[in-house]
Amino acid sequence: MNHALNLEEVSKVYGRDDNEVRALDRTSLQVAQDEIVALVGPSGSGKTTLCTISGGILSPTEGRVIVGGEDITGFSRKQLTEFRRRKVGFVFQTVSLVPFLTARENLLVVGELGPTGTSRAELRKRADQLLEELGLAERASNLPSQLSGGQQQRVAIGRALMNRPELVLFDEPTSALDSKIGDRVVRLIRDEMKARGTSAVIVTHDERITRYADRTVRIEDGRVVSAAPKRALATAG
Ligand SMILES: Nc1ncnc2c1ncn2[C@@H]1O[C@H](COP(=O)(O)OP(=O)(O)OP(=O)(O)O)[C@@H](O)[C@H]1O
Ligand SMILES: [Mg+2]
Repeated sequence: MNHALNLEEVSKVYGRDDNEVRALDRTSLQVAQDEIVALVGPSGSGKTTLCTISGGILSPTEGRVIVGGEDITGFSRKQLTEFRRRKVGFVFQTVSLVPFLTARENLLVVGELGPTGTSRAELRKRADQLLEELGLAERASNLPSQLSGGQQQRVAIGRALMNRPELVLFDEPTSALDSKIGDRVVRLIRDEMKARGTSAVIVTHDERITRYADRTVRIEDGRVVSAAPKRALATAG
């Protein structure tokens, strides 16, 4: 069976010699297609590193990274860029919107980098629908600097979902959201994932998200320490 994500004995060492930090230590993780995994663990345990490696932003020091059946371990920079545009969506821990583009344009610009063959009209429709669902319809023409932290975070979520990626990596997507809007956003994330059979890894301390996830995985000192399924995965008949 093809996993949406398969990390095999992955290590990541930052720096060298005296400054060496082993952020991931021969750790493995499999995420099934259509599965939403909540990733929890203490600060500095390797959660962000695991996400950036899974999405082809960083390469591992050791081990293999297979996404949707595609082994990206040996990919060149150029191949990785192309792979990211095609397959993954990111919501980073620190929101990184394009500062001189409006909320709507921030979604449209990734749409234009995405799979070819989608018309501009379709992209605009998709962007407006996501902004609406994220409660941002009235803020679509604002620049990031004219949005609150939580609103910026929601734009980043919309941007990650824009191209309907196969795997979405969320690094604390709801940290700046109050409980009312947070609930709505979590439900949107889950509905989007389940409607399309998308897989997700969501780094979070948020109880709401662990509740909506299929499974919670814990990481400590760069190693996944518990990855037992919360429920038995349905076997294909
Ligand atoms: N670019 C880097 N250079 C050197 N060390 C790094 C770098 N990025 C992360 N680290 C170190 O690697 C370890 C894991 O960091 P990582 O950001 O993956 O943790 P995290 O679980 O996401 O933490 P947090 O919950 O605080 O976001 C930490 O000890 C961190 O200091
Ligand atoms: Mg982090």
